[in-house]
Amino acid sequence: MTAIATAAALSLPISCSTSSKFANRKGVRGGFVVFAISASGEGGGLVDKKNPWSTLFNVEEPRSKAPQSKGKFLDVNEAFEVARYDIQYCDWRARQDLLTIMLLHEKVVDVLNPLARDYKSIGTLKKDLAELQEELAEAHKQMHISEARVGAALDKLAHMETLVNDRLLQDRTTTATEITTSSPPSTSKETIERKTQRKGLNVSGPVQPYHPRLKNFWYPVAFSRDLKEDTLIPIDCFEEPWVVFRGKDGKPGCIRNTCAHRACPLDLGSVNEGRVQCPYHGWEYSTDGTCEKMPSTKFVNVKIKSLPCFEQEGMIWIWPGNEPPAATIPSLEPPKGFQIHAEIVMELPVEHGLLLDNLLDLAHAPFTHTSTFAKGWSVPSLVKFLTPSSGLEGYWDPYPIDMEFRPPCMVLSTIGISKPGKLEGQSTKQCSTHLHQLHVCLPSSRNKTRLLYRMSLDFAPVLQYVPFMHILWRHFAEKVLNEDLRLVLGQQDRMINGENVWNMPVSYDKLGVRYRLWRTAVEEGSKTLPFSK
Ligand code: FES
Ligand SMILES: [Fe+2]
Repeated sequence: MTAIATAAALSLPISCSTSSKFANRKGVRGGFVVFAISASGEGGGLVDKKNPWSTLFNVEEPRSKAPQSKGKFLDVNEAFEVARYDIQYCDWRARQDLLTIMLLHEKVVDVLNPLARDYKSIGTLKKDLAELQEELAEAHKQMHISEARVGAALDKLAHMETLVNDRLLQDRTTTATEITTSSPPSTSKETIERKTQRKGLNVSGPVQPYHPRLKNFWYPVAFSRDLKEDTLIPIDCFEEPWVVFRGKDGKPGCIRNTCAHRACPLDLGSVNEGRVQCPYHGWEYSTDGTCEKMPSTKFVNVKIKSLPCFEQEGMIWIWPGNEPPAATIPSLEPPKGFQIHAEIVMELPVEHGLLLDNLLDLAHAPFTHTSTFAKGWSVPSLVKFLTPSSGLEGYWDPYPIDMEFRPPCMVLSTIGISKPGKLEGQSTKQCSTHLHQLHVCLPSSRNKTRLLYRMSLDFAPVLQYVPFMHILWRHFAEKVLNEDLRLVLGQQDRMINGENVWNMPVSYDKLGVRYRLWRTAVEEGSKTLPFSK
């Protein structure tokens, strides 16, 4: 084994050019410069050696098929093609190394063969073995070099993908900005400056007061099944306290959770014939906030603030904004064929954006959820979120998981279930059974989120009727969430002290980044929101 690859062979010297020179060249915008992909001077393959192992290692040497790219300017697809050939080369090289080791091992066995040994002097035997030992050491070293090359090639491929994703995001953001501001076409210099600015999101420092524009959406705040005729549900939403209850007609209402008399929390009271009765002096409020009863004193007209409140598909929705409510409330029902098995509400001590960032990320699972659903998952060499429609939905590769960010604060995901712990390598469509999840992250306050979690299955409907099953589901959901929570709380701490929680987004952060871009656009009042269908 004497072949040693030249350094150029697998260094994947590919760089993304953003200079105006390239950007202005017709048809090559967004291209890559490939300076050299060369493996000249390497030893040939070993598969022609007559050996039973040869068939296993008889893989065609890929260099003859490598795209001619040296010094050329390539577009994105061509650059990826070159990278693909380099990885194929790595694979071929590694096989040759392995073959060498195996052949050497056979030689060792031959040398040590007691029958053959009779014909050799001890001195010859020692010499043979010493030579073999040296060759083996060299072959092992070569194998490790190959292994390192494969790792480097994969890293570079991931880096290229990040560059491509960044470019797609930049192009999209630039387009959106240009549309909304109707500014004249920007010069190359301006474009470069803007792209440099956008390179990193900045989410750092104490959480700022919520922008009023973020309130102009329908927000789900409770599950219908939790709101009985005599239930009061206290809800903080955008740092204001509200209480939800059912009126005499059974329809839900949402009023401020503060009594007009002396600011007692109304949710500590009770529902009396569709009115909330304050526990302090008994004033009673209807679902539109009108005080209808004022015992033990002369009645005066009083009304407390109420919000538009509706019930749809098993959820209670409110409109906290000051603009007229949108005509349509989004549908969050699970897909056809799914039955709801669990509806869980949790109050969490984190800002809702941080929680959404966490939920929109799957790459953390094999590191974070090692005691729950990702137990035993391997760490893939590359995790990607693919968005065919360049929108806010797509699927995770290599996991059979589809995911969507649904504005303003919802995450929907469908997980294909094959064997427990074996999720890799399939698409959701290839799996026969699925779990569907809805996470609603209601912004309660700057450091509090009301999480509504709904879990549905398209199999085992009988589980709905198993006693105490909901306790198990809740236990599992809490366990998963706690694995995340300690990390997100740590991030929140650092963020408040000035660290940027989006300091270095990489390729698998795509959906989280898009959520942040969407939110920024809403807060800035963009007329056309990015990634909207
Ligand atoms: S504080 Fe509510 S009735 Fe007095
Ligand atoms: Fe998680």
